[in-house]
Amino acid sequence: MSRLIVVSNRVTPPSASGEESVGGLAMALAAALREYSGLWFGWSGKTTPEFTGQLAMQKIDGVTVATVDLEDADVDEYYNGYANKTLWPLFHYRSDLTAFDRAYGEGYERVNRRFAETLRPLIEPNDLVWIHDYHLIPLARELRRLGVKNRMGFFLHVPWPAYQLITTLPGHRQLVQAMFDYDLLGFQTAEYQQAFEEYVLNEADGEQTSPGIWKAFGRTVRIGAYPIGIDAADFAKLVRSQRAVRMNDLMRACTVFRRLIIGVDRLDYSKGLEERFLAYEDFLGNHPDALEGVSLLQIATPSRDEVTAYQDIRARLDAVSGRINGAYATADWVPIRYVNRTYRRDELAGMYRAADVGLVTPLRDGMNLVAKEYVAAQDPSDPGVLVLSQFAGAAEQLGDALIVNPFSREDMSDAIQRALTMPRPERLRRWERLMEEVRNNDVTAWRDRYVQALEGLAATPRLVEAAAH
Ligand code: ADP
Ligand code: G6P
Repeated sequence: MSRLIVVSNRVTPPSASGEESVGGLAMALAAALREYSGLWFGWSGKTTPEFTGQLAMQKIDGVTVATVDLEDADVDEYYNGYANKTLWPLFHYRSDLTAFDRAYGEGYERVNRRFAETLRPLIEPNDLVWIHDYHLIPLARELRRLGVKNRMGFFLHVPWPAYQLITTLPGHRQLVQAMFDYDLLGFQTAEYQQAFEEYVLNEADGEQTSPGIWKAFGRTVRIGAYPIGIDAADFAKLVRSQRAVRMNDLMRACTVFRRLIIGVDRLDYSKGLEERFLAYEDFLGNHPDALEGVSLLQIATPSRDEVTAYQDIRARLDAVSGRINGAYATADWVPIRYVNRTYRRDELAGMYRAADVGLVTPLRDGMNLVAKEYVAAQDPSDPGVLVLSQFAGAAEQLGDALIVNPFSREDMSDAIQRALTMPRPERLRRWERLMEEVRNNDVTAWRDRYVQALEGLAATPRLVEAAAH
């Protein structure tokens, strides 16, 4: 078995404490590497006045973690800039929030170059290199320039946008061309894979030479959909932990005589939180009998708070939740409990279990692991109901949830009512099928499918070509 080198901007080493940082990528990679004594390389999250390229190496739970600091301009132009003001909004269909600035593009290229130069000496001839997410699309190109011939794969955790959107990005062709320096490209869903292939056909004059193999820009790459999952077995353990049980008891104690709806998200405009609050407000307005009988607990961890769009959504959510609570709260009831902090994973597991309804309604989402965590945390004899946006990648697999259009308040209000009144046999039927999916397609299955595909690529035409030089 070859050694696995995982590269991502955000690096969160596996830890037993349960206090890993928030975000689907970090959760999944920490879980995926837990049994794989590989190497994980990325940004330390820290800055130095000038980039030094100095590596900090640590061995944690069998995984070697190698991180590098960036300088302030890198964080401004690459992380806050091109990654989170250009690619993130564009890939989440928010062209209204997308900023194009050449300095961001230059910062993005510079940091990818710096990552490549720092990582290069750590790569051994037989290593598989697996690069993650929109921050690092050109990394393979930079590594190839430095002579790296290893098999390299890329996995995109976020959506790949429709052709009409991606073509609004200045330099889109160059970005896509850089993807052809990989051997394997993985997307979360068939829909995103198809959107990418449509671009290759229309814009890059590419062609599919055999099933899953695409040729463009004079190179060949394998393309596939690899839906990411959660560590279902670990989650099952967490739910039984002392802290989870205590949190479950606590939540039930503070919602006596009431039903609990839960939302857990990074505080991001793609998560549809404002639309969710407004739909819940409609629900309260339409169902006077539900007043004081239901409570929405929304946990939203602040994220990327140096970016204006994130400051704006935070201010709007403060205002909307305040207004709804002001209109409806009574002496012993608030309709929305809105909490801006991070919880330990075991505590989250206990909260999910106590909730009658899980509201997961992003406007657009690569996958959404919260939906899967909510399912995994339920009591098998009395499970809650998952309400899931049709625009989350997870909807391709979790069709037994109540699927909603997050842009329609009426749709969401109806789904909340239906979830709260769903008879137990139907809840059981739906949950069993959801749980089977979450268990069968967990994070280990995702990693193994991807790594095996990458490992099996030794003889792709592109590599044969590269070896001949
Ligand atoms: P994204 O990657 O866009 O943040 P996902 O739903 O795929 O969305 O992943 C989010 C991950 O972060 C989940 O594993 C979830 O449990 C975790 N998370 C989100 N909010 C919190 C929080 N407040 N405390 C702890 N973990 C959180
Ligand atoms: C999403 C992205 C990840 C990112 C995470 C948290 O899951 O796909 O790449 O790590 O959000 O965002 P942050 O900016 O804090 O790393």
